[in-house]
Amino acid sequence: MTAAASRPPGTTGVAPRPDARFLRALRGGSVDATPVWFMRQAGRALPEYRAVRERATLLEITRDPALCAEVTLQPVRRLGVDAAILFADITTPLAGMGVAFDIVEGRGPVIEHPVRTADDVAGLRAFEPETAVAPLLEAISIIRRESPVPLIGFAGAPFTLACYLVEGGPSRDFGRTKALMHAEPATWGRLLDRLVDTTIAYLRAQAAAGVEAVQVFDSWVGALSPLDYERRLWPHMRRLFEGIADLGVPSIHFGVGTAGILGLQASAGGDAIGLDWRISLSQGRQIVGDRAVQGNLDPTLLLGPWDAVEEAARWILEQNDRRPGHVFNLGHGVLPGTDPDHLRRLVDLVHDHGASR
Ligand code: CP3
Repeated sequence: MTAAASRPPGTTGVAPRPDARFLRALRGGSVDATPVWFMRQAGRALPEYRAVRERATLLEITRDPALCAEVTLQPVRRLGVDAAILFADITTPLAGMGVAFDIVEGRGPVIEHPVRTADDVAGLRAFEPETAVAPLLEAISIIRRESPVPLIGFAGAPFTLACYLVEGGPSRDFGRTKALMHAEPATWGRLLDRLVDTTIAYLRAQAAAGVEAVQVFDSWVGALSPLDYERRLWPHMRRLFEGIADLGVPSIHFGVGTAGILGLQASAGGDAIGLDWRISLSQGRQIVGDRAVQGNLDPTLLLGPWDAVEEAARWILEQNDRRPGHVFNLGHGVLPGTDPDHLRRLVDLVHDHGASR
């Protein structure tokens, strides 16, 4: 174990900043202006990221602490967002479980040997963050020294990771994953157990290295019925959030297409709940109750004229009605082809809207 990983959170030698508006909002406190950041804010939308990608692949960036820190901070400098998110991919920890994969341009992660049988699951290695992701943990301490805003660590949620592992790559209906869930519940349970163990260890190591909040990305969970979520996933998500509850860093629980399972998701855990654009912010708040929310502008609007972005952003802020506990974000990640100037203007619009109650 490295020194950084064995330290408790908050003792990385960098002063904690609980008063940052992003962290205050996650805890439900009042803010001088609504904090805003964007999922996938580092990446193809930024010319300075594309310049780095000319000389290094995504996997190479995540194995080079200085370069990883640089790419993480690019959107903070250009856009004026209230949080940085560690540059990595949700598939990053899978290498430490012995899973070989590649990230294919324009397509996403592709797994060399999909995990589909009891033997495949038994063959997964236990994830040890200090050996598997040492450069990323080092990048965290560089970013903590250099970033003017809080750093978010993250992990893919077990269901979304299972979708990649079982399908072997992107999928439309996750048919193989759901077939495994129902045809071999014991194998499914063991796979999810392993992924929950990995996610807890990964997020704990990131917190020990200095991240100030964590987000769990359950991007594909909207494919599940409420019945399947409750029976086949909820207990695993509950165990995940219990496993990070003592870290002292707030957590964001995010999913896409989740309007029908939001209450279940929220009851599994998370200090803040992510909302996509298919539900209004006020309706989302009614479902998740006394909890911070994050969201929820449709990311495709940013591919069009500014007027439409402005109208939707103002509507979201009106829906929130100056209640504390709102982090402005998109309902899903920034799309390739997004104009960075729109993102910059959106940050200013949200900040100019003013304080919460
Ligand atoms: O948010 C950030 O700026 C930090 C970095 C980050 C990446 N991936 C880098 C990346 C984060 C937080 C992710 C999360 C991620 N990755 C998710 C969850 C969020 C979501 O969008 O639902 C998912 C499902 C993935 C899987 C993934 N990785 C896909 C589907 C793709 C291809 C699509 C695309 O955006 O190109 C990737 C590749 C990827 N991950 C890129 C980046 C910057 C682009 C490819 C590259 O630069 O080579």
